[in-house]
Amino acid sequence: MLVTTSIAELRSALSSRRALGPVGFVPTMGALHEGHLSLVRRAREEAATVVVSIFVNPLQFSPSEDFTKYPRTLEADLDRLRHEGVDAVFRPDAAEFYPPGFATAVTVSGVSEGEEGAARPGHFTGVATVVAKLFHVVLPDVAVFGRKDLQQAAVVRKMIEDLDFPIRLIVAPISREDDGLARSSRNAYLSPEERRRAAAFPRVLFSTAERIASGEPVAAAEAKGRRELEEAGFSVDYAEVVDPSTMRRVAGPVAGAALAAAVRLGKIRLLDNVLLEGQGQR
Ligand code: PAJ
Repeated sequence: MLVTTSIAELRSALSSRRALGPVGFVPTMGALHEGHLSLVRRAREEAATVVVSIFVNPLQFSPSEDFTKYPRTLEADLDRLRHEGVDAVFRPDAAEFYPPGFATAVTVSGVSEGEEGAARPGHFTGVATVVAKLFHVVLPDVAVFGRKDLQQAAVVRKMIEDLDFPIRLIVAPISREDDGLARSSRNAYLSPEERRRAAAFPRVLFSTAERIASGEPVAAAEAKGRRELEEAGFSVDYAEVVDPSTMRRVAGPVAGAALAAAVRLGKIRLLDNVLLEGQGQR
């Protein structure tokens, strides 16, 4: 497994592998868990060469979010990726990737503005900018993102379309803990008591989705879902039915829509979503 911080070294290794078949790419910020590895396995199904990036991207953190405290577990991450048979890991150095004077930003308007974009101004410009730059470095045929970050996937999809990246986007299902909580590096920050209570988050989303699927009007189901989340001790940022490609709210019909939510438990913000059709995809 090639592990490099160098754009030139990565490019030259990939150029000799492109003839073997498609290049698949999974961008990450490290602190890898089973959710990330499920994306790597999906990329492996699609591609002859699998590239993973590990880069804690300063552009997508606001001053109030602690970029320096983001977990960094490089050696364990590399062991896991080796075990998955990954071909190359790109781990750029922030000072080289964004040299002094770096002046370009990619902003995807509309889809970036609500939900997470409203809660975290500038976040999706940071994401789109780094993903565009990583795409140009890796030149993948296929990129795999997780549906865990539903809006991020929508932003990347729109950027790929608008900027004509010749990349097929795969949005992979959410990997969950045994009690249903979506895997996330942030889960480690929950106290044992909060961690127990967190399981109510997906439980309420699933039951709300079932009520909507059996015909309850969307607005009533959303309101009841929010109330149940509050009763379970969460403070609710949003819990709403959206079109996953535009993030616009959907009042019905709900085929193809998703119930997306963000809640806070103590100091930790949790994100999750459930598709309103296609049970296997949950
Ligand atoms: P990160 O949070 O490390 O996530 C990397 C990828 O893993 C994303 O596509 C995310 O949606 C996916 N992922 C995280 N938890 C998951 C889970 N439980 N199940 C399935 N997929 C999961 O997202 C980012 O990094 C960054 O914003 C990045 C795209 C790398 C740009 O910096």
